[in-house]
Amino acid sequence: MTTRALVFSVAAAAALVPACKKDKDQPAPPPGAGSGSATAGTATGSAAARPRPSQSTLPQMPLMVLGDDLKRAAKVTLGHALFFDKRLSGGTDRSCYSCHANEDGNGGAQPIAIGSGGKTLTRHSPVIWNVGYWSSAFYWDGRTKTLEDNAKGAWGGGNMGAAPGADTPEKTTAALDAKAAEVAAIAAFKPLFETAYPGTPIKADHVTGALAEYMRTLICNNTAYDKFAAGDKTALSEDQQRGLDVFLGKGKCATCHAPPFFSTAMGVEGGAYFNVGIGTSGVAEDKVDVGRMKVTNKPEDWAAFKPPSLRNVAKSPPYFHDGSVGTLDEAVKLMASGGIANKNKSPLLTDTGLTDAERTDLLAFLKGLDCPGSLEPPAAQ
Ligand code: HEC
Ligand code: HEC
Repeated sequence: MTTRALVFSVAAAAALVPACKKDKDQPAPPPGAGSGSATAGTATGSAAARPRPSQSTLPQMPLMVLGDDLKRAAKVTLGHALFFDKRLSGGTDRSCYSCHANEDGNGGAQPIAIGSGGKTLTRHSPVIWNVGYWSSAFYWDGRTKTLEDNAKGAWGGGNMGAAPGADTPEKTTAALDAKAAEVAAIAAFKPLFETAYPGTPIKADHVTGALAEYMRTLICNNTAYDKFAAGDKTALSEDQQRGLDVFLGKGKCATCHAPPFFSTAMGVEGGAYFNVGIGTSGVAEDKVDVGRMKVTNKPEDWAAFKPPSLRNVAKSPPYFHDGSVGTLDEAVKLMASGGIANKNKSPLLTDTGLTDAERTDLLAFLKGLDCPGSLEPPAAQ
């Protein structure tokens, strides 16, 4: 899986970035030349002739292909109502939306999420725009293969605490089946369940199925980047276009955050995982969150995580699986300088020697990935 993912990412990066390899051999631009691309098109020296990756054909979001389901719209309506409702949680104190809220860019506000009953979890809440595009790779470590199982994990686990004390999968399912029946009996929910699942006794799978269908509608495909890729050359400012050059070229970000998803792991069966060093320093080795290795048991996956999509990244601090970095500027600095050294760091992440001006452009570009939409509250229950 890892090999396939790498082939995909390298191929994607190579297709996009014809000048990327050459960068290493090119002489540095003269001092004062600005961030590289300022010289492009002004016809002095060989650097000027170098094609700008931002001006090449850029990948656009594919449509999400779903099988036929005459009840899908009804499931989405139900899932939407459930996603926002605290009565789904054990302590009626959390909804799914509590940790995936608009004001936090649909990620979480706290560095480490705090679940139902005030229980501190282990990781930071990720942004869930475009979550339906992950393929058999949910959570930071890809441990869950379907969105339905992911919803079940969130609902029965500490996030929502709806299966308190259940210590086996069977007990969790039994507790969630009971909770599902309880929720389906609430007057406001009854008609929604009946329309989505007519004539069926309501069980946990109906709740998670509806939540999954709602989450598949959370699509972000109309950012400034998308408009630019579709041909509107005014959609990104000049500094954002220079930032895109850095992103695809010298900064090598696209190796792991390839467009159009801005995660190379998205849309790739099983995902892709990289150790960039987050959470490995200042912690005893046996206390490090081993990430993907917990799923595969392979030492090469030690402390490796899924590269998140960078769509909406400017709106979703704090950053990384442990929420350890508070600002986007710091997060970008860390990535551009090669991450945090440790015994298993990915060789694909290196110090790319970006200048301050290049990093400023890169930050400007990342704001071009802001998702204009927001999760609308459902009709009153
Ligand atoms: C207390 C905060 C909290 C609540 C409540 C919560 N989540 Fe999350 N969510 C998280 C955290 C933390 C993660 C990442 C956990 C991990 O990777 O181990 C996550 C991950 C996810 C993901 C995976 C995203 C990806 O990139 O793979 C989805 C989907 C999701 N949550 C949906 C839900 C749904 C549906 C609910 C309600 C049933 C919910 N969440 C409730 C904190 C929360
Ligand atoms: C070798 C693969 C790799 C490369 C190259 C790479 N990243 Fe990442 N990036 C990751 C992974 C993996 C994570 C998540 C790490 C974690 O949380 O443990 C991440 C996380 C991030 C985050 C935090 C996002 C969030 O929502 O928490 C930002 C911002 C980011 N990368 C930007 C960049 C930029 C900008 C570049 C280029 C300078 C870059 N990355 C290059 C793999 C990579």
